[in-house]
Parts: sequence; C-alpha cells; structure tokens
Amino acid sequence: MGGTSLAAQTVPAGEGATATVRADTPGPRIERDVFGQFAEHLGHGIYGGIWVGRNSKIPNDAGYRRDVLAAMKAIDVPMVRWPGGCFADEYHWRDGIGPAKARPGKINTNWGGVNEDNGFGTHEYFGLMERLGASTYVSANVGSAPPAETAQWVDYMTSATDSTALAKERARNGRAAPWKVRYLGIGNELWGCGGNMRAEYAADLTNRYALFAKSGNGPMLKIASGPSDSNYEWTEAMMRIAGKNIDGLALHYYTRPREGDWNNKGPALGFPEREWATTMAHTLRMEEFLTKHSAIMDKHDPAKRVMLAVDEWGTWYDPTPGSNPGFLEQQNSLRDAVVAALNINIFARHADRVRMAAIAQMVNVLQAMLLTDGPRMVKTPTYWVFDLYKPWQGATALPVDLTSPWYHKDEVAIPAVSVSAVRDTAGQVHVALVNLDPNRAIPVSVSLAGMQAGQVSGRIITGTGMDAHNSFDRPDTVTPQPFAGAQVSGGALTTTLPAKSVVILDLR
Ligand code: AHR
Repeated sequence: MGGTSLAAQTVPAGEGATATVRADTPGPRIERDVFGQFAEHLGHGIYGGIWVGRNSKIPNDAGYRRDVLAAMKAIDVPMVRWPGGCFADEYHWRDGIGPAKARPGKINTNWGGVNEDNGFGTHEYFGLMERLGASTYVSANVGSAPPAETAQWVDYMTSATDSTALAKERARNGRAAPWKVRYLGIGNELWGCGGNMRAEYAADLTNRYALFAKSGNGPMLKIASGPSDSNYEWTEAMMRIAGKNIDGLALHYYTRPREGDWNNKGPALGFPEREWATTMAHTLRMEEFLTKHSAIMDKHDPAKRVMLAVDEWGTWYDPTPGSNPGFLEQQNSLRDAVVAALNINIFARHADRVRMAAIAQMVNVLQAMLLTDGPRMVKTPTYWVFDLYKPWQGATALPVDLTSPWYHKDEVAIPAVSVSAVRDTAGQVHVALVNLDPNRAIPVSVSLAGMQAGQVSGRIITGTGMDAHNSFDRPDTVTPQPFAGAQVSGGALTTTLPAKSVVILDLR
C-alpha cells in the first residue's frame, strides 16, 4: 500500500483543484442498479467462478461458491445481468432447465469453443439472485431464436403458480412461485454478435419481441440493444422507431489502453506510464458518450422515461499470458480502481438518464470484482472501489462545480481530478475524490454550499506502483486504508490527494 503519508510528495504551488459541492441544489437519485454486475457464460465467469456444483470440494451453498457469495453480498450487489453478452443470442433457455444430467451440451462458439453443459440455467440464476438479494436482468435471444421463444421463457419465469402449462413445468422443476424479472434485454449487440443488423431492422425486431414478452409477475422493464461507443445513428434510429416500446437503451463502452486494434489492446500489468495516461483519457470519453446519447434521447423522450443502461463497461486488456484467450482473463490493478471510480463519478453526473449499469464482468472476466483459482479467491482493487462507493447506492446526487489542474503525458492532456458527492439515504454527505495523476499529489479545496460540517473521516485506495494489484499469494496489496488527510470547518473542506488515488470522505 502507498498508505496515507503525504510527506514525501511535493506539490507545486498554485496547482490545486477547487470545487463547490452544491448541497443546496440536490440532483436526482442515483439508482442502486447503477452498481450492477454482468455474469456471462464466458470462461470462468460462471463455471468455477460462481458455480462449482453441489459435489465440489470447494465450500458451496447448493453449488454456489460460499466465498464468492459472501464477497458479493458485502458490496451490496443490486443487480446481475445474465446469461450474456454474445452468449445470449445463441442461448436456448430450454437447454438449461430440468434435471442437470439430462440437459443437452453444446459448444460455446463465442468464448473459447469449450463445452457448455448448461449446468447453470434459469433456476440456478434465480437461486443466485435470491442469495445475493439482487434484482434480475435476463437477456433474451433475438439473434437466433423467434419471438415465441422469448415470450415462452418470460411465461416460464413469471406466470403465476399453475396458471399456464409453462408455470406447471416450472413447478415440476422445483419452483412453484413465479420469479420477478426486473429487466428483460431484447438481444445483445444486435449490430454485431447479436445478428449483424442495421439499426432500423434491429429497432423493428425490438418492437416485435417487446410486444410478445409479457410478464405475469409485475413490471418488467424492456432494455433494447443499444449503441457501442459513439454510434449515435443507432441511438437515433432505435429511439425513433422503438422508443415508445422500450424502457431502456443499452450502451456498451470498453476502455482499452490502445484503441484501434482489438488484438493488441495492451497488457493488464507492467505497462508504461503512457498506457496509464491513454487508459484514463479513453475512459473519460464515457462522459462525452453519455452526454451525446442522452441529447438524442432527450429529443425523442424529453420526460426521460427511457433509461440509458450502461450494461457493459470496464477495461479490456490483452488476456493473461498462458490463459485461454477466449476466456478474457486479465489481472486488475490500481489502474482499474481509478478507472472504476472515474466512471462512477461520471454516472453520478448523469443520474437522470443513467439509471442502471453493469460492469463487465463480475468474476474472472475482464474488469472483475473477484478472481478465483480452484479454491482460492482474491478481491480486486475494483472490488474495493465498489465497496467504498456503497453510500452512493440510492443516494441523492449533489452537483459539483470543479476546476482541476491537468495531467500531461506525451499527447495526453486530461483533468487530473474527478469529484462526485452525494447525500445518502440517512442524510449524510459523502465526497469522492480521484487523482488520476500517477506522479503528483494534488491539493483540493472544496466549498460546501448549503451545508456545514465539523468532522470528516475517510478511506483511500492507492498503491506504490501504477499496476499494484492483489494476487492469490498477496491478496491485500491494494485495499482501502483509513485516510486522515482531510480537514473540514463549516463550509470549507480541504485535503491533498496522493498521486493515483481514490479517496472517499464522510462528512458530519
Ligand atoms: O463482455 C464480453 C463481451 O463484450 C460481451 O459478450 C459482448 O456483449 C461484448 O462485445
């Protein structure tokens, strides 16, 4: 750990950040589901990572890893998206119900070409959600299955006990009461792995699939397959043609140090400062994407009824050397922690439209919360960011005006400091401060407009190297530490942020 000592870090005079937290003009609620997760049938994302089966030697609760359940419960996971991803548009839900031994196997053509035995299916997914106390997001197959298949799956999941033939079949498979489907994804990446469709065709299909999928158990929000990155034409067409029939539009954006070549994204560890800088610059583009997609949505939906659901976001690096490249395994370092905090701060600024999101992915895949290796499990720096930001779940966003110094590296020039602030459900104000400059501590002065505080306490995530990370042998290298480097008096909060750090301050 880098700890909280600031003594060794020099701060050039006059290069601090100033901010005003507008507690006097509170913004919208930050929905809990913005802190959602994504669990796809991909590599060890589910098998080995979440689900080991009842007969495993790894301690489990009816097949679910006990260590993973406990870790995910501890960060109050509000929602998990399943079964994909690209996997969803080749998934046939009937393959994943009934006695496990009788379920058909198939090849996971998207991810590593490995055998998928369907041991984890609909009942296992809802069992996981019940154990986590999380709400559900099921992605339907639009790319390679007819609308009746989606309609029947929804019938199977949600129809009242004994009310339909599929509800009776569900009961025979061990579950009489209906489940609640909070979100139904109408396909995934229909512009790509979900079917290589044009936006207009995808929007027509969205209207059709949405019409026939009818929940028998309360509201089910329909999420259309949305744009990637800056594909504004997709948003325009989807909102124009299907906007009235959907409740959300998905946005996918992955942060890569090297853009352009998907076969050369850059390593997860051992990268040069230049790739720290490009990673930060690229992830900050999320702000621009949310602003521009929201503006298009505002034109078609000024009341903001349709949410922008960032249901795939996070870092994507070259796979861990020696791993199956189709499994998307990567280490997770302090760089990922800073990326996660920057994105959460951006989501907080767009809480009026971004009411759900899912980081990709929950366990062992891409920017994961947890990594497992047989019986071992480690919490990543990203996990600890989600832990620090728990007060943001369901809180009221407080607008922040910020003037930040710049961080420069080669051709990259970006604001070094990012801030968000909330009033939590119990009325307490919290401020999140991120310093993405890997070299320089930055003093910050915050004016608290419309509130007074007399006490401040905090926690920090930082590390000695840019790629400081937790391994199975050294699981506690990057963990939150107490932070005593802030002062508050009345409406003035001051601190100095150590280089490459995420600091959460709790005011009283
Ligand atoms: O998260 C990995 C993959 O990235 C998902 O399956 C797909 O939707 C996206 O392209």
